[in-house]
Amino acid sequence: MDLLIVDDEASLRDFLSIVFEEEGWRVETAGSLAAARLAHAKHEPDLILCDLMLPDGSGIDLLREVKASAPSVAVIMITAHTSTKSAVEALKAGAFDYIAKPFDIDELKIIVRNAVERKELEDENIHLRTALEERFTFSNIIGRSARMQEIFSVVGRIAKTSSTVLISGDSGTGKELIARAIHYTSGRRGKFVSINCGALPETLLESELFGHERGAFTGAIREKRGLFHEADRGTIFLDEIGETSTAMQIKLLRVLQDHVVRRVGSNSETQVEVRVIAATNRDLAESIRAGTFREDLFYRINVIPITLPPLRQRREDIALLVEHFITKYSKTLGVPQKRISSDAMRLIEKYSWPGNVRELENVIERMIALESSDVLTTKSLPEHVLLGGAIPDMTFELPPAGISLESHLEGIGKFFMLKALERSGGVQTQAAELLRMSFRSFRYYAKKYDLIVREGRNDETVEVEDEK
Ligand SMILES: Nc1ncnc2c1ncn2[C@@H]1O[C@H](COP(=O)(O)OP(=O)(O)OP(=O)(O)O)[C@@H](O)[C@H]1O
Ligand SMILES: [Mg+2]
Repeated sequence: MDLLIVDDEASLRDFLSIVFEEEGWRVETAGSLAAARLAHAKHEPDLILCDLMLPDGSGIDLLREVKASAPSVAVIMITAHTSTKSAVEALKAGAFDYIAKPFDIDELKIIVRNAVERKELEDENIHLRTALEERFTFSNIIGRSARMQEIFSVVGRIAKTSSTVLISGDSGTGKELIARAIHYTSGRRGKFVSINCGALPETLLESELFGHERGAFTGAIREKRGLFHEADRGTIFLDEIGETSTAMQIKLLRVLQDHVVRRVGSNSETQVEVRVIAATNRDLAESIRAGTFREDLFYRINVIPITLPPLRQRREDIALLVEHFITKYSKTLGVPQKRISSDAMRLIEKYSWPGNVRELENVIERMIALESSDVLTTKSLPEHVLLGGAIPDMTFELPPAGISLESHLEGIGKFFMLKALERSGGVQTQAAELLRMSFRSFRYYAKKYDLIVREGRNDETVEVEDEK
């Protein structure tokens, strides 16, 4: 590690050089601000010890410049006499700490050691667990985004009523979770019963929902209670209501209007007291226009509409969800609580998540199952997440604000390397050939960009393949 000592007193520079060289540092010294600037540019030190008062200016200026160009460099200020004002100023400008002259060398050593420790921690890139999760949870549903917070507040307000709710949202956005939350905060005494209306043929759906008499149809050997009965004084969740036939929609309308159900094959009706929550990932307004969904039923169920936004429209929820699922699956899989690197988190936050929270949950579960170390890194991310996230916005237009050509070119490089790896099934020699690159430089960049994610295939096995 490199240390730069900036002080106009030559004897102090020499003393500190000897002390820190003994501690294993490579030391450079400078006696003025100008010399310090040169030394900083040339040696890129990890740590700077800097006197506050220099013959050609203030150490604070150097501190500011260093922090602007290389924020990870730790700077410790040496002040001539205890002046709280300049100490505060230094800390505000980003100094790690300060020490007042005359100082005890052991005290300085401790400050330096602390600075190194913190730098190592930062370099390790560990995404520190947010203690915020608790505050953004509504009966196990995570969301800090304004839209989710708004939904929680609606759920809180309507849970105790018996109004019908229509939850819409793409697949995996948490529709069923919200439906359960409504039921469990409602204080309703009956059960929560859930049925996927799109999964059953019409006749079966009818007897599931309303029950049937003995002998009502072939195979109806004994009479059966329907789910509306099961859910009496509770809640029935009609998932994918947009998939029902219009004939079924008329029957549902009747239950909603009159609170009575008629078993298949029966000629009497029974009263039920059921709260209905329906869900759909279709645009029902569109279905009404197309004539596949009855408008009167729509108005009956759309009393309280709740629309769950896709995950990519509430990216601020992603990190919390990731933490939540890491805890959940570390527990269920019986492994010590894992952490995630901030690089991996960044890619996860960038990805578009077409399968929404369910897809995110599956990815985290898989990463935890496959990662043997404590930290989930970009290496354990599935290729499509890497591919989606690793590419900085690829554009062939020059945006008004300009672009960083270098990182743009790097993005294109990564993109083709990933494509080549995909095509070669992860064999690096073949991928290198596809890109007219030497294996050596392919391997170098693949490592640099963290592109090798195939399970059970590490550099060694690939190198063996290279030799045959
Ligand atoms: N905000 C959230 N916080 C925590 N877990 C969530 C959240 N949203 C969804 N999940 C989890 O994601 C998974 C999918 O949620 P759910 O089944 O409720 O989605 P859905 O909208 O009903 O999906 P589909 O349309 O595919 O049926 C579940 O395991 C659920 O626990
Ligand atoms: Mg669902």
